[in-house]
Amino acid sequence: MSVTHFRSADPCSAAPAKVTLPSLQDKKRNCQPITALTAYDYATARLVDESGIDMILVGDSLAMVVMGHDSTLAVTVDEMLHHTRAVRRAVRRAVVVADMPFGSYHSGIGEGVANAVRFVKEGGAEAVKIEGGRNRLELVERLVDAEIPVIGHLGLTPQSVHRMGGYAVQGKTLRAIDELTRDAISLEHAGATAVVLEGLPREVAKRITAELSIPTIGIGAGPDCDGQILVFHDLVNLSFSKPAKFVRQYGDAAALFRTAIEGYRDEVVGRAFPAEAESYHLAKDERLALEEREHERAEGRLAVIR
Ligand code: KIV
Repeated sequence: MSVTHFRSADPCSAAPAKVTLPSLQDKKRNCQPITALTAYDYATARLVDESGIDMILVGDSLAMVVMGHDSTLAVTVDEMLHHTRAVRRAVRRAVVVADMPFGSYHSGIGEGVANAVRFVKEGGAEAVKIEGGRNRLELVERLVDAEIPVIGHLGLTPQSVHRMGGYAVQGKTLRAIDELTRDAISLEHAGATAVVLEGLPREVAKRITAELSIPTIGIGAGPDCDGQILVFHDLVNLSFSKPAKFVRQYGDAAALFRTAIEGYRDEVVGRAFPAEAESYHLAKDERLALEEREHERAEGRLAVIR
């Protein structure tokens, strides 16, 4: 049985029209911006989906913003799958994409395909994302052969943090720009469905976007990409770190949560929570019988129940 629960296009159904990967390509052709966000759990994925975001990425940024690691490298396939399944259960409309974590496609094509199959079969993902350019073409072709849509990821690729020597903007020299452009074109020719462009000068992302017929989804790559993606925790101030230049915070969930948690703590300590209205009660007969028994016990007419 499928775990994706695709809704029918029945106009009488209350279900929202499903976003598909081909419909994202249509958006590029029609110059309509694609909206994307990460999500890692049922509650936030529901909010993101019900807000009409087109694509939800279960990103390996999970390692940092949910699990507290200092890079994305530690998260495993099983951990990513656990979160992909939770997101899948929440999402009815958006395209769900699973990030292939570091080490899940780096030691062989067969291993990469096998892990991607798990994300589709066990996690309910509609596509997988992998980092890298021309070094990933064979894998992209094999995944497409296996009916698994692939999203590429170029520029600042966090799984290459040690090679890059940190998280720095990429594509700053003519040579690097040409390499990135060749990588992007090669990914498209190999069958990639879209490409994430991260941490690139605006001019470079614009040039690559113009060269491709598949959509580019930017993060820290300026406004000329076909779509934008942000990490959910950055959007709502839950990252516990200084936001990068490209992040815009649209809400302050940290402040909201702190106020709620501190209010709860204070009211428990002050015995203001729970109140009468938040308490359950016995039915009248049982309450009277209980009171009668307490009364008899108080008068010494009844043995104490141990
Ligand atoms: O893991 C992630 O959140 C990502 C986005 C930054 C694109 O790869």
